[in-house]
Amino acid sequence: MNTLIHVLILHSSQARSDELYGELSNFNDLDVRKPLEPTIDPNEFFRTDHSDVILLDADYLGNGYGLGQAVIEAFPSKSIIILDDNSTMENMKKALRMGISDVLPSSADTETLVESVYRSQVKKLQWQESIKSSKGRVPAGKVSRGKIISFFSTKGGVGTTFLAVNFAVLLRNETQKRVALVDLNLNYGNVALALNLPVRNSINDVVNEIRNIDGDLIESFMVTHESGLKVLASNPDPQLGDFVNGDHIQVILSTLQESFDYIVLDLPSDFLEVIRPVFALTNTLFMVTTPDILALSNVKSALILLREMNFPAARVRLALNRLSRSSMSKSRVERTLDMPVSFTIPEDASGVYASLNIGSPYVGTKKPFKKTGSIEQAVRSFIEEDQSVGSVV
Ligand SMILES: Nc1ncnc2c1ncn2[C@@H]1O[C@H](COP(=O)(O)OP(=O)(O)O)[C@@H](O)[C@H]1O
Ligand SMILES: [Mg+2]
Repeated sequence: MNTLIHVLILHSSQARSDELYGELSNFNDLDVRKPLEPTIDPNEFFRTDHSDVILLDADYLGNGYGLGQAVIEAFPSKSIIILDDNSTMENMKKALRMGISDVLPSSADTETLVESVYRSQVKKLQWQESIKSSKGRVPAGKVSRGKIISFFSTKGGVGTTFLAVNFAVLLRNETQKRVALVDLNLNYGNVALALNLPVRNSINDVVNEIRNIDGDLIESFMVTHESGLKVLASNPDPQLGDFVNGDHIQVILSTLQESFDYIVLDLPSDFLEVIRPVFALTNTLFMVTTPDILALSNVKSALILLREMNFPAARVRLALNRLSRSSMSKSRVERTLDMPVSFTIPEDASGVYASLNIGSPYVGTKKPFKKTGSIEQAVRSFIEEDQSVGSVV
């Protein structure tokens, strides 16, 4: 963002106000101000104030939320970020519905605050643009569309999330292209946790803005992993996942396809109604299984259902996870399912456990775990296949 953003700090604690002022003043594109003393007549004050964003303490003049609402009603172009240490999910939702940009703890770190300030401006621009024009949002002449790679299993616990996360990180590392990872386990997703990423925004924020959505706005709700992978997390509050429907998912994926080269999806372990649209958009579907009869029987049923849904068999790949010396062999799995295994990942409890404990992915961690090769091979052969298909088209 090149233009200067005018930020006003209204905090009931002078000490915190000074601190915030000091921290935010370090940013060249922020012009930060704070009144010398609490404003007694807010209406008079805001009339002459030129701020774009107001950081407003929930206790300011006894009722920060009320003041925030009044300011938004009178000056809709201003963005309000409430600082509240005692915010509950309920009042956060209420605040967002009122048009407040964000609610953060008063002690939020500088990075969080600044990110929220920038995001509020992205939203505002988006809002202004949507008012100005009702033209189609797909840029003319843009033909390349991102590929969707879905990881799926109808049996939980086989390692779908584990593979989706690690595949995405490696795909980003190997290609340096734009790679997104979307957690579609809407109620109990743990992609962000597996990558040790903080969840400040989630797919629910995208859904709240679905009418105005474009690539930049979705990206403002994603978290960036150190590899450069962009992650769209599922909602940390399980009930909120219920607000997301199939149409939302279709819009989100089509929008991501406009700005990412690859979109990796971690799917829930069922053909839920809400994820049905995913299959029509998927270019490569990795069916994840473990080498045991229960999991294989699930895969068989899932393959039948996919066929009934007219999902092209040529897009299905089998990923065999947790293969060990004592498990069923790869060739027996292939015979049982009558299809080739695309890649295998060994059982590696200690490696996986260690990667989870340090919150970094199994692949790409500095500590060389013995058997990381398999996911790397999987990613490399995917890239080769993708490039050869790409060169033919
Ligand atoms: N190759 C592996 N070796 C050892 N443990 C694994 C392996 N793959 C996955 N796990 C573990 O299995 C559990 C289930 O994995 P997860 O990815 O959450 O499965 P799903 O998404 O299919 O429910 C996790 O605790 C994960 O760490
Ligand atoms: Mg999972």
